[in-house]
Amino acid sequence: MPTQKVFIKNFGCQMNEYDSERMLESLALSGYIETSTADNADLVILNTCHIRERATEKIYSEIGRLKPNKAENPNLTIAVAGCVAQAEGEEIIRRQPMVDLVFGPQAYHRLSDMIAASRQSPQVELDFNQDEKFSVLPAQRNNKRVSAYLTVQEGCDKFCTFCVVPYTRGKEFSRSVQEIYDEAKNLVQAGSREVILLGQNVNAYHGQGNGNSSWSLANLIWKLSDIPQLERIRFVTSHPNDMSEELNVAFRDCPKLMPYLHLPIQSGSDRILKLMNRKHTANEYLDVIKNVRSYRPDIAISGDFIVGFPSENEEDFQQTMDVVHKVQFVKSFSFKYSQRPGTPAANMKQVSKEIQEKRLAKLQSLLFEQQKLALSDSIGKVSKVLFEKKGRYPGQLVGKNEHFQVVHAMAKDELIGDISTVCYTAASSNSLEGSLVV
Ligand code: 5AD
Ligand code: SF4
Repeated sequence: MPTQKVFIKNFGCQMNEYDSERMLESLALSGYIETSTADNADLVILNTCHIRERATEKIYSEIGRLKPNKAENPNLTIAVAGCVAQAEGEEIIRRQPMVDLVFGPQAYHRLSDMIAASRQSPQVELDFNQDEKFSVLPAQRNNKRVSAYLTVQEGCDKFCTFCVVPYTRGKEFSRSVQEIYDEAKNLVQAGSREVILLGQNVNAYHGQGNGNSSWSLANLIWKLSDIPQLERIRFVTSHPNDMSEELNVAFRDCPKLMPYLHLPIQSGSDRILKLMNRKHTANEYLDVIKNVRSYRPDIAISGDFIVGFPSENEEDFQQTMDVVHKVQFVKSFSFKYSQRPGTPAANMKQVSKEIQEKRLAKLQSLLFEQQKLALSDSIGKVSKVLFEKKGRYPGQLVGKNEHFQVVHAMAKDELIGDISTVCYTAASSNSLEGSLVV
């Protein structure tokens, strides 16, 4: 089989990173090896994200940049994958005829066939067959990451009014427990020591367990914790309404489940939460946090926020700031509201860019203070770090502690993949420095 080179440019979330890894693994079976540049590639895949900003325009200019590559190598296959592909479909080929292949997030298991067909005519594949994708992908994982992503759930039925996910990723779908268990075992065999279970709505997980029974995320976590050498389990992203007693108990009693919870609230104003169709109030969110902290007092909470959602006023924004003061987040992701075509909020009364920017700066400075505080709070303390790779400086390794904070320490390469005890000596704005405790 002749060797061909594939270059994947990834945009967006961890689920896209996972998808790109799976595409590489299945392309390897057809003789493709990965390359780090489009310049010597036979196949370029842009794995796109549609969640915010001018995603579509950005992709068109990315495609435009490949023009010289296509001129030099007419056999170059250009593919657009992911959520922009799902949203734009044939329009991409109409606007940029040098694109050979457009496929959505649920179609990449048929990649090799689609590439072959695209040699005859441009292909557009936007099927929503989630079930088929996972059963067709090769079970073998050749991922060499100490901390590996594992998609367990995809899509969303919540329909927050700002969000494209229910349209681009489709309805909620959970993979079966057995399939996930096998994949996790494969990852561990290949060297992973941590799995991060992924899903747009991961705590709504309800996959097939024994027989026809439906298992919750907590059940799945307990099952995965049986795997020897799998040291750590995490999950992202959760919805406040799907937090359960069972998950709280797992945070308390399952030693492999790390004390870190990413729980977006988006806004602290009940009026805005209602317009967002979040189906919870600010106090309900705070109660969820209080509850999980009563089971696992040291749990680190991170969140997502949107500022300048349509009609948001100063009072609404102040309520978001109030929630942030109450929770004390260890890490957060905050965004200006971005109008997404086809979503209900796109037609609501918009807030000006200037106000959005002012509010975002204010919110981010508070969130940043909290992040720094959480880091500096650790100085002088000791905890367990899973080292993942070499650091920037000779002799240095980088890893994460239980609370998902990045840690740098001087340590031998043999410790990559091991859990070591580290005493923290200094904090920068987004990581900790420490020394090994022997
Ligand atoms: N505008 C801004 N931020 C958004 N997010 C989702 N949709 C939008 C949008 N239209 C953010 C939310 C979500 C995160 C993944 O992206 O905060 O939790
Ligand atoms: Fe989007 Fe998350 Fe809301 Fe689902 S729950 S619609 S993925 S923001």
